[in-house]
Amino acid sequence: MRLYRKEGNTVQILALPTENVEKGEYLLIEDPATRRSLITQVIDVQFANVPGILEELLRNSTTNDLVHEESFDPLGVISHVAYIQDSRLLVCKIRGTMEDGKLRVTASWLPSRSQSTIKKLPTTSLLTLAKISADLPIQLGETRELSQFNIDAQTLDGRLNIVTGKKETGKSHLSKLLVMGLIDHGAMVVVLDLNGEYTHLGFSSNGEKNEHFSKIQALTPGDNLKMTLPQMKLRVMLDILIHALHLPGTSAREFRRIWRFLQEQGTLTLHELGETIKNWKCNTHVRDALFSRYYSLLNSRFFTDNPADANGLEENFRKIRNGGALVINLHDISLVDRQVAVEYVLGKLVEMLTQWKIKAVFLFAEEAHLYLRETYWDDIVTRMRHFGVFTTFVTNQPNTIRENIYRQADNVFLFNFTNEHDLEVVSRAAKVDAETVKSVARDLPPRHCLVLGRAVKDFPVVVRVKALDVQAMGHTRLFFTEKN
Ligand SMILES: Nc1ncnc2c1ncn2[C@@H]1O[C@H](COP(=O)(O)OP(=O)(O)OP(=O)(O)O)[C@@H](O)[C@H]1O
Ligand SMILES: [Mg+2]
Repeated sequence: MRLYRKEGNTVQILALPTENVEKGEYLLIEDPATRRSLITQVIDVQFANVPGILEELLRNSTTNDLVHEESFDPLGVISHVAYIQDSRLLVCKIRGTMEDGKLRVTASWLPSRSQSTIKKLPTTSLLTLAKISADLPIQLGETRELSQFNIDAQTLDGRLNIVTGKKETGKSHLSKLLVMGLIDHGAMVVVLDLNGEYTHLGFSSNGEKNEHFSKIQALTPGDNLKMTLPQMKLRVMLDILIHALHLPGTSAREFRRIWRFLQEQGTLTLHELGETIKNWKCNTHVRDALFSRYYSLLNSRFFTDNPADANGLEENFRKIRNGGALVINLHDISLVDRQVAVEYVLGKLVEMLTQWKIKAVFLFAEEAHLYLRETYWDDIVTRMRHFGVFTTFVTNQPNTIRENIYRQADNVFLFNFTNEHDLEVVSRAAKVDAETVKSVARDLPPRHCLVLGRAVKDFPVVVRVKALDVQAMGHTRLFFTEKN
């Protein structure tokens, strides 16, 4: 391999057809005179456009068609010409400099074109060089050289993460690995599970309980996630009424009065709430508005007057004190009920965090645009993060996540995308240059992911995600089932 050109932070390297280099691999350009090396990552492999190659190719193809005898090559140059025709041009991004065994992210120098030697830098050596060690390891899979690849749970702590890629590439699978890894280290996790696919993380694929069984609490709103009204804070209730059930401001004020009135009387029950709204002295429009919301609350089966039936988030957090996940199963419930449940969960989380009942929580949200209200997006990256809610968004529609979230994301786990528009959106993530994202993500095989950001100290690494022995849920239901 020979160094050919440098432009900005891109270098081009010439490689012979026998030197097999793939996208995503790291190359070390060693300059013997200055005893420094440039660390670069291959982001594209092209044919080398040597002058005259087009003419040569054309001439070849015409003679191949016309002459059927043995080729006449007295000087034995054909194999050399073929070699040149097959030479590759590796487009690489500069990621850093190595000097005296130390790694620096700057690269304000140019290695010698005539003297430098270029060799592959295995991912394991890169991880050692960059001191990417894992004190609290979460094993994600294998690197290109089949060595184990771990990330440190601490690099997710206090961070905002995005898992994205097109359909069926293995995003939920990776999120499950992250969830299990976090709870192994004693973290508390809440999963907003849109497809009901995390509820069985406590079972192996053969249906037996696994070591995580006691740490996974699957909660279905309206079924085993229910509360009494006194367990609710008025503020959370108003959030539900205003944001999930779209109650206008004047009616919300009236509702607050009714709630306070019932609280003072000590009769805060669902039944009494209905009765009081019926007899409350107020404008009929307001009463109608309150009534319709009251029935929505009733129909969600989310609230109960029987304390024995109640099972709120707070009690469940106690069960996972030493690490575990609360999986909020949002599958099979209506859009409104889903929003009610999410308002409750997030409201309750903030309440418990502000009162220091819990230290911090990792929130996994699948396809969040389907249930998260507008104002929560900014809240999650700013206010809620300071309270200790560390979110991971999982989506196959990258344009549903706002641009500012990509900019602020600390880690991005990127799976394959082929659609230009999707690639364009993801490439706005500030963690790496747009060219790397577009070029590498386009050719990632399924179950391979490009890890960007803090977890890899900004050295993008391609990982083959490992398999997981848990009961698979969330399979797409099919009409034509496979015949064995
Ligand atoms: N690394 C892996 N090893 C083994 N099986 C995997 C791996 N990754 C994904 N799978 C399997 O591939 C299928 C699709 O994976 P998954 O559900 O995670 O994809 P997804 O990207 O979340 O899809 P969707 O966009 O539909 O949500 C699942 O059956 C999953 O078990
Ligand atoms: Mg999924």
